[in-house]
Amino acid sequence: MKPAWWKESVVYQVYWRSFKDTNGDGIGDLRGVIEKLDYIQSLGVTMVWINPFNESPDKDNGYDVSDYYTVMKKAGTMEDFDQLVVETHARGMKLMMDVVVNHTSNHHPWFIESRSSINNPKRDWYIWQDGREGGPPTNWRSYFNPSSWEFDETTKQYYMHSFAIEQPDLNWANKEMRMEIYSMLRFWLDKGVDGLRLDALALLAKPNSFSDVEDPHDIRYLTHNPGLHEYLQEMNREVFRHYDMMTVGEIAFATPETGPLFVEEERMELNTLFHFEVADEMPEWDMVRYKRIQRQWAEALAGRGFGSQFLNNHDHTRQVSRYGNDKEFREESAKLLATMVHTLPGIPYIYQGEEIGMTGVRYETIGDYKDIAMINRYVEEVGKGKDPAAVFRSLQALSRDNSRTPMQWNMELNAGFGSAEPWIKVNPNYEEINVEQAEKDPNSVLAFYRKLIALRKSNPVMVYGDFTDISEDDPNLYVYVRELEGTEWVVLLNHGEEARTFTFSDSFFGEEALKLKLVLGTYENTLSTWDDEGRSIELRPFEARIYEVIT
Ligand code: GLC
Ligand code: CA
Repeated sequence: MKPAWWKESVVYQVYWRSFKDTNGDGIGDLRGVIEKLDYIQSLGVTMVWINPFNESPDKDNGYDVSDYYTVMKKAGTMEDFDQLVVETHARGMKLMMDVVVNHTSNHHPWFIESRSSINNPKRDWYIWQDGREGGPPTNWRSYFNPSSWEFDETTKQYYMHSFAIEQPDLNWANKEMRMEIYSMLRFWLDKGVDGLRLDALALLAKPNSFSDVEDPHDIRYLTHNPGLHEYLQEMNREVFRHYDMMTVGEIAFATPETGPLFVEEERMELNTLFHFEVADEMPEWDMVRYKRIQRQWAEALAGRGFGSQFLNNHDHTRQVSRYGNDKEFREESAKLLATMVHTLPGIPYIYQGEEIGMTGVRYETIGDYKDIAMINRYVEEVGKGKDPAAVFRSLQALSRDNSRTPMQWNMELNAGFGSAEPWIKVNPNYEEINVEQAEKDPNSVLAFYRKLIALRKSNPVMVYGDFTDISEDDPNLYVYVRELEGTEWVVLLNHGEEARTFTFSDSFFGEEALKLKLVLGTYENTLSTWDDEGRSIELRPFEARIYEVIT
């Protein structure tokens, strides 16, 4: 696979509104990101992804844009943004912007025009349909509502929204609209943005016919419709190929069969993608399933394209709570998951706070939650007559707010996030879990992330190496090999609360005794746990090790 800078990236995701508040309004801001760039740089990451900051009524935390060319007041000013670009670059890092092109806010001037009359020139920029038998055109659901259609009084038609009612979908079949989006993308790239995270890309093309589906709850029908790849190829022709940049598409329901079509180099669409076979579809840790997903994707992408590795982000609850153990093995399991994400094939993403092992939150009342997805679902279920307390409990574990609590900087007021009460409550465990604390401890999760990230810089095997899983269906142990031009690394992970032994097969090392050199381990004092023959190795609870094979 041809080398490229973007393939060697380690991306740090900043959810700016929960990162650092500098003007005391309780909301993080771009100046806060600038203030903390030295910290971000100290991790060793190469790129900073920042969530949407364009003007927005903020119904979905910035994913409902009302002006693509301005900075939302909460976030700061265009000067702040320009300075963020300069300061990020000055520290040798790149900046990735999050762009929302499947939909706008219902307050976007395009939509206001579009809804004003059937003959408005922008009517066709959104998706309008007549109702059917006094109801919506189809039985499609949206991500956040029971229907993806909203009736509009003015023209007595329905518009489509794949997400909230306040997020009408753009009509990608309209060429004029597409061209406008492409020039908007060029505007930001010309300002010095180096990467784009493209939101909800799988939804751009709509189904060919507006007709009912059998199971409206399985919303796959909203995605991967004909025309999608043509749009992405056009976007690449019009925008991407003219810049030295990186693109990552958020591709819901991508599978090992369909995924490569987005990132295969000759197809000239995207550089990389996020698939959601883990984050959306695997609610709890399931080692056998996870290994299968990794094997299938590695096989599908080998020699064809590049993928991503992540276990959490602003839409998915904290990885240590969901996929590790956020109680007695919090630090161990945080390090294990990190080792895994950074040694599997693909570009690793770190979501702010993950590097200190921040955990999910359990607020006491629904009123403490802000996430539109959770609140709408709560209202819908309670509306069906279900017990509010039970509905509340069932939604807590996976609420997107779990990962949206303020970054925990220190044990001072509001965890050092800012002087005012934050827009969303701080996780009460900030007194134990915070950056300042982690900086003092040479064995902290934070210290481990720094070591792990540094390794990638001098070891291309982590980026370009072939991948072989040698642990098959073991439900707790994950052992795999990365190999590049004679360099061979073995990664051993014990995902579990008990010690476990892994025995290498004869076919792996032949007759020779094992010669392995430890590259990095999550526990101190690691060598004593080999057996005499040097064929078996005992791993402690949630222990992870990386070895290099010496020949
Ligand atoms: C993506 C974003 C999510 C948002 C949705 C609608 O999934 O990551 O936060 O709610 O798109 O834009
Ligand atoms: Ca602020």
